[in-house]
Amino acid sequence: MRTMKTALSGVLVALGLAVGAGGAFGHGDVQPQPVNTDGLKPLGTEWVAENPYKGDAHAISIGASGFNQNCARCHGLEMISGGLAPDLRYLPQGKEGDEYFVERMKHGAVINGVTKMPAFDGVISQEGLWAIRSYIESKHEE
Ligand code: HEC
Repeated sequence: MRTMKTALSGVLVALGLAVGAGGAFGHGDVQPQPVNTDGLKPLGTEWVAENPYKGDAHAISIGASGFNQNCARCHGLEMISGGLAPDLRYLPQGKEGDEYFVERMKHGAVINGVTKMPAFDGVISQEGLWAIRSYIESKHEE
């Protein structure tokens, strides 16, 4: 009984957060958190086609914190999605996943005119976004 109740309130909290995050984004008052990319090779402003930091332990640790601050409220802490947004552990590895990732960072996700996910290009640096991609790929599952 006790467990049931705890589980249920967890679900309600998750739903409340999701609705809160969505509404707040619509009004532009959820601020993206900057990602500190000290120690990563600078990339400039042109997007590179493939993840330059793939497998790099420093990039993965930067990406983990960048992800948990900017993406986890929709995609789940530690990337384990509660079903509100796709579970990114299943994003393809390598170049295919990289290209898809860049498209999403540029355009976000707009469905029927509703912004389900904001674009991050120009909001978080390219270095920060590839660090997040490195973290995502490090957690890949088939
Ligand atoms: C406000 C909620 C929200 C935030 C914040 C958010 N996303 Fe998303 N994201 C979504 C939703 C919803 C979708 C699915 C859209 C669709 O169905 O096309 C999505 C889709 C994606 C996809 C495509 C996944 C697939 O399997 O098609 C990627 C990659 C992605 N997000 C990465 C990120 C990253 C990286 C961040 C943080 C920098 C982030 N998202 C932040 C809501 C969010």
